[in-house]
Parts: sequence; structure tokens; C-alpha cells
Amino acid sequence: MTRIITIAGGKGGVGKTTLSANLGAALADFDRDTTIIDANLTTPNLGLHLGIPLYPVTLHDVLKGKNNIKDAIYEHESGAKIVPAGISLRDLRGTDARDLPNAILDLLGHNDIIILDAAAGLGKEALAAMESADELLLITTPELPAVTDALKAIKLSEQLGAKTTGIIVNRVSGGKHEMKMREIENMLGRSVMGVIPEDSAVHRSIAYRTPVIHYAPRSNAAKAIRQIAADIAGVRLKEEQRKRFRFF
Ligand SMILES: Nc1ncnc2c1ncn2[C@@H]1O[C@H](COP(=O)(O)OP(=O)(O)OP(=O)(O)O)[C@@H](O)[C@H]1O
Ligand SMILES: [Mg+2]
Repeated sequence: MTRIITIAGGKGGVGKTTLSANLGAALADFDRDTTIIDANLTTPNLGLHLGIPLYPVTLHDVLKGKNNIKDAIYEHESGAKIVPAGISLRDLRGTDARDLPNAILDLLGHNDIIILDAAAGLGKEALAAMESADELLLITTPELPAVTDALKAIKLSEQLGAKTTGIIVNRVSGGKHEMKMREIENMLGRSVMGVIPEDSAVHRSIAYRTPVIHYAPRSNAAKAIRQIAADIAGVRLKEEQRKRFRFF
């Protein structure tokens, strides 16, 4: 059975695309047949994170009814498959995000896991990605505005019938100004599934257009993301790979 996991956040810039790209690559490393879909239709940047060149058929062509989604799947060197979005303004004309849940249906049964990189905010695009999901991973940074937006996303997704299955807190440095994990859990009413530290390796990996789990596999961010992927896939990491981070 194919699991559809949407990475959403409410707030912009909290790490949705970074997590989508790396989770996809990590799940592929665990031999899960994984497709990452760039569901950020107006400002797509999954392709930039992964160094994907321009492709002839994109998700926009699928949403316009010109192509089947299977025509827009490309193999990435990470082992994950990618459905990129069109990057030109022209691509937006005649595209309706509300067609996304239907467009994905043709992939069901052909993948173990589909990851949707959602748009920021709680507009039509983000909602379409949430509505498509079996499982919703909400990512936030440990700051009040981001956690507040994550709470709104949880409430809205409940109305859509999408289940929030995990909270990921990203860019954690353990500073005094940051919200504590317990405070975040109390506010969101859910436990935190994974913590990704603030890590300069992430900036460098994006500059090199390579997932950080491959660019800097021993970095703290890479280890944290691999652990999240292992938890999702039900894989047990070896002891030396399992170093947890103590930001609690
Ligand atoms: N763990 C991390 N450590 C350091 N920097 C990070 C980390 N995670 C993400 N970043 C930085 O945050 C920026 C935003 O990340 P990303 O593009 O993944 O966010 P996003 O939620 O997808 O943004 P948008 O809402 O625009 O789609 C990136 O430039 C990246 O370098
Ligand atoms: Mg993004």
C-alpha cells in the first residue's frame, strides 16, 4: 500500500523542502520506493534543493490535463523519484491546485511512499497538499510565530480529515530564546516525533544542490533526518547511527 505523507508547516521557510528532499533520499536508502512531489505550485524549489535540471513535463502539465503524472516522474541520483513543478510564470496559467489529490491517484500502488512538499501558508495550494495526505508531518521551528502557524495548520487539517501524524522541530540550537520541546508539545497537543538541529551543513548542502544526508552524512542534521526516516519506515538503525539529540 502506498503511503502519502505531506510535509506542511503553516509558516514559510521552516524547512519543508529541506525535509522533503532529505526524507525522500533517506527512505530511498532504506529501499523504500519513494516519490517526492513538489506541491509548491507558485514558488516551487524542490528542484533547486536537488539540482534537478529543467524537465519537459512537470506537475503543472499534469494539473492542466496535458499529461498523466507518470509522464512527470524522473529518477534522481539519490534513488528517490521526483515529480517537479514548472518554474515559469506561464506554467501557472490554467493550473488549479485543487486538482492535486486526483492527479496523485495514478501513482497509488506504484510506490511505497509519496512525499508531498507543501507550499507555505494555509492557502489553496497548501490545503490541496494536506487534503491529498494520509499522513501529515508538520514542521516548525522552536519559535512562537512558527508554532502558532503550525497549530492553525493542525486545526485546518483536522477539518479536512487529514491526520497529523508527527511534529518535527527544525533548526533547534538549544538557545534560551527557543521554545522548549515540552512547551511546543503542550501548545500543539501532540508529541514531537523528531528534532533537527540548526546545522550549517544544511546551508552548504543546498548550495551544492545535494541532500545533506549525502552531502554531509555525519552532520547532526543528517543523523536526525535519517532517524526520522527510519521511524517512518519502521527501520531500526544500528547503535552508532542512532545518536539522539538532547535538546529536551
Ligand atoms: N536544520 C537546518 N539548519 C540550518 N539551516 C536550515 C535547516 N533547515 C533549513 N534551513 C535553512 O532554512 C531555509 C529554508 O528552508 P526550506 O526551503 O527547506 O524551507 P521551506 O519551509 O520549504 O520554505 P518555503 O516556505 O519557502 O517553501 C534554507 O535556506 C535552509 O538553508
Ligand atoms: Mg519549500
